[in-house]
Amino acid sequence: MPLLPLAHLLCPIDQSELQQDGNTWRCQNNHCFDIAKQGYVNLLPVQNKKSLDPGDSKEMIAARRDFLNSGVYQPIAIALANTVATLCQGRKQLGVLDAGCGEGYYLNAVSESLIQNEVALCATGLDISKWAVRSCKIRNPKLNGLVASNRQIPLPDHSQDIVLCTFGFPVFEEFKRVLKPGGHIVMADPGPEHLIELRSQIYDTVRRNPPADISAALGEGWQLSDSINVQFTSAPLSAEQFEHLLVMTPHLYRASREGRERAAKLQNIAISGDVLIRVISNSH
Ligand SMILES: C[S@@+](CC[C@H](N)C(=O)[O-])C[C@H]1O[C@@H](n2cnc3c(N)ncnc32)[C@H](O)[C@@H]1O
Repeated sequence: MPLLPLAHLLCPIDQSELQQDGNTWRCQNNHCFDIAKQGYVNLLPVQNKKSLDPGDSKEMIAARRDFLNSGVYQPIAIALANTVATLCQGRKQLGVLDAGCGEGYYLNAVSESLIQNEVALCATGLDISKWAVRSCKIRNPKLNGLVASNRQIPLPDHSQDIVLCTFGFPVFEEFKRVLKPGGHIVMADPGPEHLIELRSQIYDTVRRNPPADISAALGEGWQLSDSINVQFTSAPLSAEQFEHLLVMTPHLYRASREGRERAAKLQNIAISGDVLIRVISNSH
């Protein structure tokens, strides 16, 4: 089954429907958004940007791409793909949005598993970083790419079946708005033991925080319907993998100078993955 292009988008300036006209999306008030040569569309107007180059930088995205391509987080990708496939069993047509998609590793894994089951899939990666969306389109040109914010998702109400949010910044009100009745939010967040070997090198005191609080998402017909712990130990990582891991996470910027120096010497050590996948479902 083919991956489908997006048919409906909303203008980020006046929220009216955008129509595609060649290489441009245009609304009734003539606000225009060009499709970039990589095939994504930037729907983040200057007035909605808090910085000139918001979100993850070009370097962070390249480091994350290289680290994820090396397969260390494959258990997370497999668990996410299985979770979404189970939720969507028997469905023939699906809209999946990855809100804060990064360079598209997880969206691509989820999409590949869904299309094996003969699903007509419209899969969209949205990120506030243009570097992320560009990289997502290079990973798989059939994925739709939107530069936009989770705070204002340029998709119509009730247009998606699944909203993925992995290691991201959830905006539950917007996720619920774009989901169809019966839709699901699928989140992946680090657990207390995640990357403990790296964190114990770079911080003097290691915090074992629980996964992000999702209580704001629950109630009014929304409940936690599944919770899956993904725990694994990697093969020993090379110095290059440790470097990519550091650049792609906030740890590099939070660590002290001594911590960064210790991290720069890390190699040939296995790391622990501890990730909680949670499904928040709508019972309507
Ligand atoms: C830790 S990365 C995770 C990326 C990807 N989901 C993954 O798991 O590989 C967080 C991503 O969220 C993006 N981001 C930050 N604020 C955002 C916002 N308000 N809306 C959409 N994306 C955002 C960043 O640019 C970055 O790509």
